[in-house]
This record gives sequence, structure tokens and C-alpha cells, in this order.
Amino acid sequence: MNQDIPSKKVSEPSISRLILVSNRLPIQLAKKNGKVIVKQSDGGLVTALKSYFDQESVTDAFQEKIWVGAADFSEKRWLMLDQHNCDFKIEPLFIEPKIYNKYYNGFCNATIWPLFHYFPSYVIYDQDSFEKYEQANQLFAERLLKIIRPGDTIWIHDYQLFLVPGLVREKIPDVSIGFFLHIPFPSFEIFRLLHRPWKEKIIRGLLGADLIGFHTHEYVQHFLKSVRMVLGYDHQYRVIAFENRLVKADLFPIGVDFARFNQASERKAVIEAKESITKNLPDKKIIFSVDRLDYTKGVTHRLVGYELFLRLHPEWLEKVVFVLVVVPSRQIISKYNERRKLIEEEVGRLNGKYSTLSWQPIIYRYSQIDFDELCALYQCADVALITPLRDGMNLVAKEYVACSTQRGVLILSELAGAANELGEALQVNPLDAQEVAAALQQALTMPLSEQLHRLALMQKRLSTYDVASWVHDFLHQLTEVKTQQASEQRKYVTSSIRREIIQNFRRAQSRNLLLDYDGTLVPFARHPREAMPDKNLLKLLASLGSDSKTNLTIISGRDATILEEWFQDVPVNLVAEHGAAIKRVQQEWTQEKDIDQSWKRVLRPTLEMFVKRSPRSFIEEKNHTLAWHYRNVEPELGFTRSRELLDSLFHLVRNGQLQVIDGNKVIEIRVAGIDKGVAARKIIDETNSDFVLVVGDDKTDEDMFRSLADRALTIKVGPGHSVAQYSVLNQQDIIRLLYDFAE
Ligand code: UDP
Ligand code: G6P
Repeated sequence: MNQDIPSKKVSEPSISRLILVSNRLPIQLAKKNGKVIVKQSDGGLVTALKSYFDQESVTDAFQEKIWVGAADFSEKRWLMLDQHNCDFKIEPLFIEPKIYNKYYNGFCNATIWPLFHYFPSYVIYDQDSFEKYEQANQLFAERLLKIIRPGDTIWIHDYQLFLVPGLVREKIPDVSIGFFLHIPFPSFEIFRLLHRPWKEKIIRGLLGADLIGFHTHEYVQHFLKSVRMVLGYDHQYRVIAFENRLVKADLFPIGVDFARFNQASERKAVIEAKESITKNLPDKKIIFSVDRLDYTKGVTHRLVGYELFLRLHPEWLEKVVFVLVVVPSRQIISKYNERRKLIEEEVGRLNGKYSTLSWQPIIYRYSQIDFDELCALYQCADVALITPLRDGMNLVAKEYVACSTQRGVLILSELAGAANELGEALQVNPLDAQEVAAALQQALTMPLSEQLHRLALMQKRLSTYDVASWVHDFLHQLTEVKTQQASEQRKYVTSSIRREIIQNFRRAQSRNLLLDYDGTLVPFARHPREAMPDKNLLKLLASLGSDSKTNLTIISGRDATILEEWFQDVPVNLVAEHGAAIKRVQQEWTQEKDIDQSWKRVLRPTLEMFVKRSPRSFIEEKNHTLAWHYRNVEPELGFTRSRELLDSLFHLVRNGQLQVIDGNKVIEIRVAGIDKGVAARKIIDETNSDFVLVVGDDKTDEDMFRSLADRALTIKVGPGHSVAQYSVLNQQDIIRLLYDFAE
């Protein structure tokens, strides 16, 4: 798809630059009386990022800031824009209207937006729109490739640009890319409704980033599950080993410019606007809401709740006014237009029904409002009624709290991301008119002391994690991910290290190879029995083991019977059950100890209970071990159950004779004092080798890596932290190395 993008390599260091990328630029050009004027764009993404850039401290962090976004006006007009006073350089990207329309009004706002906000019945599935989405993302990527210089940090924003991280990564493998999603990431049951190739491209595109940020823990979990279900990649503590890179997903709940909103009451323009509001609405309690025109914002449901409140509490008639501001948005899309009509009909109906000559219950405004007027409204509002049906975060709720210095009650939908941080708000289900009406009554009668107490707690939280902390936190973690990637890279067996290992192997007079089996020589299978060695692997091991200079050992958690069945014709030493039994080539098994088995009877019922409670889990009984496997259990359930089992075992296994191992999708209980480290040492002590190689992938292999750190070359297979000296990505890398040994 992007063959025409020239390949590029980041090599020389340069001044530090931050490149922000979003579909929406912070400013728009509009035409008024034949002249081009500059207007600030609407929406949470722009207000949050722009307010951060407006803060002076940012200047210190980056020497240059560039903001790339789509532009709908001719290039010439943008060239006339005086950029001298901007805190960042604007790079407008012109996308042909034919592409832009299907990309923006189509796939972005008629497919992803409704789907990710849990409106599946509003979703339009149109292949052409998806193709235009790909083309638009491609254009963004091409522009970035022209701009990016060594050392730049790229921060891509929101659902319009899901594919851009992957497209840029393909051409500049080592570039630093962050991605932030400003809307919810839905549960997999919703995400899966997208056509399969779209899903795959979206997930692959996102995994092109190094760090992917979301507003809430729930969205992170949903994303991680989608990655697993769509591409099969699992994660460890939110880190995914994708191809040859670690990618992290984490939560960063976006903040507001707390100080600016909190101190707004001191601004002259705000004071004047407040005076005018109170003069026009004397002695009225004010309920306020402001949203972009969007069906997700729940305005029509809100009006139903307000009407019920007026019906249930007629004592408030003529004493309360609902100031309802709707900011125009995405007007070409039919669902938006319809919503506007519905809102206006409902406002008209309510005003018609309840108004008197001197009062009307709703003051409705359909327009943009500027910062000062917005802050004046926040400050005049006794109650903010913010009830989206779904919202990634909802900044309006946070801005209201930050602005309310004298009084104020926030009624907030529990379906907004902000509900996680604003626990002291009156939280409601926006679909339940009874609940909304009751919350209005509670808010309007709440004692001032309680209002201030709730506000103070929320303000403390919002001031600690404001928009600047959000940006710093995200960019700091991005740097950390890059550092982690670099340290992993340093441990990778590069081709020169590989050559050196092979040379040392060939030169050695006596070698010891200790290889774990599952996850090291073969990939994991659904059931342990299925992961048997194929002919090629047996041939390879036989050829290595028959070399008189090489002492080859398979060191496994498997039991003796199966190891013997599989490797009976191969000249290898076998270590079963992590060292409980050892069989040297052409000798009989020796048991480590005559071990008491009575504990199995005691613990088995607990494991059986977990099998019943976790479909597709099973017990494996070996001579000295009981193992509960949960590889095939639904991943979330498997993880939760495994933690519960560990907890139960912790209480049962107290006398120190048994040991519980939290392995790779398996929990094993075995006799203490036996581990692969002890067994491996015993084997290598038997010969005086000048080359010892130990390879493994799991926690139990770490015992070998640790115990032989001074004597052996240790290699970990797969991602994750390890004490091994080196790591490789997968089993094939090890098999290739063994073939080189065998040659
Ligand atoms: N806002 C705006 N124009 C207006 C009124 C408000 O841009 O005329 C701002 C408001 O201050 C807030 C943002 O728009 O910062 C709305 O963000 P929110 O997260 O609440 O919703 P979104 O519009 O991003 O879905
Ligand atoms: C939300 C989205 C933003 C978008 C904004 C305004 O905040 O998360 O990406 O910019 O709405 O919508 P618009 O379609 O006008 O850019």
C-alpha cells in the first residue's frame, strides 16, 4: 500500500522536536466578509493539547514543536497565516475532498465513532470508506516521513489516525512514536463487529507505536484483549512483544489546565460576562450543560430527565433555568443533523409546555462559545448536568469542577471516562430519567458545606494531574519504553554474537548443552501431549548428541515417562520434573529422593474445584508434581482463577516441604528443594566442559540461569524480563543455532 514512500534511516542526533499529529488542527481558517479569519477548533483533543502548548514551561522541554493536521482550505490561505506568534509550527495537510469526505464523514465518524461509543446500530460498514481511510492515513504518514528528523518524538492522536504509527514504523524502524486514543476503546464484543481485515489493520497500525495511551484502565484492558483475539499477541504487565519490539499500553487520564480555569474568575472578561448572566437571570438557580452536537452526549435523554424533575418538583417552576449550549459539529453526517432536530423539537416542546410570560425553563443556544463566556457560565451554574451516554473522558466535567471556586454541584454520567476520577460528583445512569431527576433535586438542595467539600476533593485530584502532568507522564513513559526496548535489544543474539557462539562451540573440546523443552525447542500446544518432537527435531538432537565432545541434556518439567517415550532413541540425558529424576545416556533413571506423595491427596481436591470452575483447564499429575494448566481457558478468566488458586495454595502449602510455581499458563506444586538450577549444576559438574550453553523460556529456567551464571552462556527464548545473558525472539532462532552447531 505504501510502496511509494521512500525508505529512511534515523541516524544523526539533532535538536529535540515534538511532532504532534491529529486530524483536527488547533485552528481553523474561516471566511468572514470576504476575509480569512482564524478560529480555534472545538473538542476535547484540541483544547487539552493547545492549553498545554500555551503554557510557557513547554518551551524548555522541546526546542521545536510542530503540529500536523488536516486542512480544508487552500494552501495559499494557510501560507498567509502569520505563524510568528504561534507556540508551534502548523503543518497543514491538504486532502482531496473526495478522499477526505469518505475518510472523515465516512469511516471516522460513521463507522468508528458510533461503534467505539457503543452505538452499533448507527454504524455504516462501507469498504470504500475504509479504503479512503487508508489513503488519508497514508497521506499523513507520507507527510511525516518528509518532516521527521533523527531524535524527533512523534505523538499521534485519536481514532482518525489508527494506521499512521504502523506506516511510519515500516519506514523508520527506530523512531519514537506515541499514540493516544481520546475516545473509549470498546469491549471486544463490540470491536469484533468490524470487518476482519479492518480490525487487523487497525491493531497492526496501533502496534506501530511504542506507547499507546488510553483514558481508563477499562479501555486498556479492552485493547489488550482485542490484540490477543485479533493477532494472537499476549501481554505481560501491559507490554506486548510485537514482532521484534516491545509495545506498551497504559492509562493516562487526560487532565485540564487546572490553574487557568481555577483562576478564570479574576479575568475581566469573565467578570463582565458573569454580571450579564446574573442580571438576566436574577434569583434563578442555573443548571448548565455544554456539549458538541453529538448523539453520544445524551442531550435528548437529559431533557427527558429535566422534564421529569419539573413534573416531580413543581416547586422549582420559575425558580430554575437550564442553560443548554450545543456546539455545532460534523453537520454533514445525517445522524448529527437528525440529533439537532430532535434536540430543538424537544426544547421547543418543553418551553412551550412550561414557559410563563416571565420565565422559560430552557435557554438554548446552538453556537460556539469563547473561553471567557464558558468560564462565566461554569461559575454561574449551580449545577452542571453532564450526562453523556458514552464519552472517552469528558473534559467539560473537569473544567466545571476546576472553575467552581464558590459553589457548584456536578451531576455526571457514570458512562463518561471522567467518572473514574470524579467520584464525589453525583453519578447517574444517563438513561434513567428518575435517577437524573432525583440527582437534580439533590444537587439543588445540597448544603453549601457539602458542595465545597466534594469540590475540594475533586479539585485536589484535578490540580495534581493536570494537562501538563498528563503530557509529561505520557512523554516520560514513552522515553522509558524506548530505554526498555534498547536494553532488550542489547541482549538480543545479534548475528555477530551468534557467530562468536558458534565459533566457541566448534573450538571447544568438551561441551555441555542444557535445553529446556516446551517453549524452547517446540511451541506450546493446547495440551502438553500434543507438543511432541517432530522427526527433524529428533534428527537434529541425535546428530548433536552423538558427537562425543557434546553432552546434551533435555531439562524439563515433563515427567519421566513421556520424556523417555519421546527421546528413547536419541543420545541425550533427560531431566524430568525439574530435576526430580535424571536419566543419563544409556543408564536408568535415578530419583532425586524417595519422595512422600501423600500431599497430592490433600491438594488434588482444590485443583479439581478449579477445573470445574474454569472450563478447559485440566490437571496434569506427574510423579512429584501436580500441575493445573489454564492455557486454553478464556484468558481473563484464566488469569483471575490462577490468582485465586495461588492464594488458596498459599494457605494450604505452609510447611515449606512443597513449592508452588507460577509458570507460563500453568501452576505447579512440587516438592521443595528440587529445581532445574540444582539439577543443571549436578550435570555440568560431572564433566569438565569448556563450553556450557543453557537455554530456556520459563520461570523454572531462571533457576538454571541464576545457578550457572558464572559457568554458562545463558539464553532466554521469548519476551519478558530474565537473568539470562542473552535472549532470542522464538524457538526458530534456537533451532537455527542448533543446526549451525550440528553442521
Ligand atoms: N469547548 C469548545 N468550544 C465551545 C465550547 C466548549 O471547544 O464552544 C470545549 C470545552 O471547553 C472542552 C471541549 O470543548 O474542553 C469538549 O471536550 P469534551 O471532552 O467534553 O468532549 P468532546 O467534544 O471532545 O467530545
Ligand atoms: C472528540 C474527538 C477528537 C475530535 C473532537 C472534535 O474530542 O476525540 O478527535 O477532534 O471530538 O470533533 P471533530 O470531528 O470536529 O474534529
